[in-house]
Amino acid sequence: MKKILAVANWKMFPRKGTDAKKIFDGIKRTATKLKHVETVVCPPFVYLESLGERVETRNCVLGAQDAFWEHEGAFTGSVSPDMVFAAKARYVILGHSERRALGDTDEIISKKLSAVLLFPLSPIVCVGELTRDTNGAFVHTVRQQVSAALSGRTPADIARMIFAYEPVWAIGGTAKRACTPSESREMISIIRQELAKVLGDEVKAGKVSVLYGGSVNEENVEGFVLEGGADGFLVGRASQDAKTFSELLRRLERVGKK
Ligand code: PGA
Repeated sequence: MKKILAVANWKMFPRKGTDAKKIFDGIKRTATKLKHVETVVCPPFVYLESLGERVETRNCVLGAQDAFWEHEGAFTGSVSPDMVFAAKARYVILGHSERRALGDTDEIISKKLSAVLLFPLSPIVCVGELTRDTNGAFVHTVRQQVSAALSGRTPADIARMIFAYEPVWAIGGTAKRACTPSESREMISIIRQELAKVLGDEVKAGKVSVLYGGSVNEENVEGFVLEGGADGFLVGRASQDAKTFSELLRRLERVGKK
């Protein structure tokens, strides 16, 4: 049985390193005890190294929120996969909608992905439509984003990739509502169809992890595991507080046992 992957995306929080340590330690206390859940905390870059010293088990590790496509050089403000790997990150989020809104195109994401795949890092590629329409254009958008990320990849690379379906309209404080588990299941199966097209094999496509993200919290997470078809979750707001995220992790463990 695959473990449920719980990814905490802290975004640009918290303001102080001392708070980052406190939140990480609180999450770690719960996460290290769980058998059915693997936890990944993705803090802002500046906290990676100090939190890296606090990682104790493979059950609760770190991820970066992005990585640049070059290894080093005159790229002011950028951080390379080499650097995040050295700082003990083992996952890298790529193409989050908040980065896409700041200019990351499918082409840029693909370049970043190629760089990340050179390291023993697991890329988490975020895809998702801005809005839903009635003529199915949103499905086309998601297929397009997935196929751009898969283009030119070997089956071995694809086996290391993780996708996260994150409908932009369901993310963050301004979200009108969360996605329903059935909406999530439908889109996750569309992502798997794209994977099967490239891999030529539904069984192999089924082995690639696909997460759901967007207004996931401790109240709705069980429903998403049971009916949403996701292998795990990318959690924003509900991951920025140790108590809330620990409760979410405990609920995942409970459903993971079933
Ligand atoms: P949210 O963010 O959980 O706060 O909606 C999710 C995300 O942006 O990954």
